[in-house]
Amino acid sequence: MSTQGIGYANGKIILMGEHSVVYGEPSIAIPFPATQIKTTVQASEGETAIDCVFYKGLLNDMPELLESLKAVIKVSLERLGQTDTLSLTIDSTIPAERGMGSSAAVAVATTRGIYDYFQQPLAHSELLEIVDISEKIAHGNPSGLDALMTSSSTPYYYIKGQPVTPIDLHLTAVLVVADTGKTGQTKEAVANVGEKVRSKSGAIYQRKIKDLGQLAKASKDYLSQNQPEKLGLAMNQAQNLLSELGVSSLELDALVVSALSHNALGAKLTGGGRGGCMIALARDLNDAQVIASALKAAGAKATWLYEMSGN
Ligand code: PMV
Repeated sequence: MSTQGIGYANGKIILMGEHSVVYGEPSIAIPFPATQIKTTVQASEGETAIDCVFYKGLLNDMPELLESLKAVIKVSLERLGQTDTLSLTIDSTIPAERGMGSSAAVAVATTRGIYDYFQQPLAHSELLEIVDISEKIAHGNPSGLDALMTSSSTPYYYIKGQPVTPIDLHLTAVLVVADTGKTGQTKEAVANVGEKVRSKSGAIYQRKIKDLGQLAKASKDYLSQNQPEKLGLAMNQAQNLLSELGVSSLELDALVVSALSHNALGAKLTGGGRGGCMIALARDLNDAQVIASALKAAGAKATWLYEMSGN
């Protein structure tokens, strides 16, 4: 083993297809390296201890809320056949409960950190298995998308139950991400969309779900064929549909309006909605900076920029 092990993970953003993905429609998610988690693993003199923003103390006294993190540490040590006590420090710039995959990212970075400490190779498939155990505790029924996105550097096209396909990203544009400062309500929003879809007027909502799927499908080509204007329009259409499904919020709407009135090519919520984050597409870095300042003035608690150029 080395004196110190380090593991990283990045945030993730759903570019297109949130909510409709639940009904078998395609979605597009991208790794978001502007937000990151780093777990540093060292030997501990006494019992295994954790130092993170939510908790500082012994693993065994950790609150139930962090049960998923406990599972990651336990399972990783078991798989490695190790019984050493460890000291783990987790530094994160991924905001929690904003749809950026923070729980999966903690699990990814911590697993990687532990394997690095013991100087053992970690296959991506094994990493995903360990993170899945932790995500089941955190969320009940994870799709696996967060685990994949927070541990990879490739955007993916994802349809539930099918193998994921990497997207060949060729887009000259900058993504602006803004945090409303309100926690997202993915579970409630998903349940509410489900009620609408099953209601008497369900056919109207099922149509909207299909339309969201079509937008995600078309956006895959816009991303690989460098068509930022078309992608922006698709984002606007998706926002309208998501709003009609009832998953936007006053804060998200205000940020979308602000981005569009400052030259964004398109803007929409990202993730479960009802809070959390929104995204806006800018032509270039200069436009992105103007949009980010406008979003801050319109109430965003934090903004990030991400150049999407690809290879
Ligand atoms: O809020 P997030 O990033 O966990 O995304 C939720 C995405 C949904 O499509 C709304 C739900 C799901 O399970 O795919």
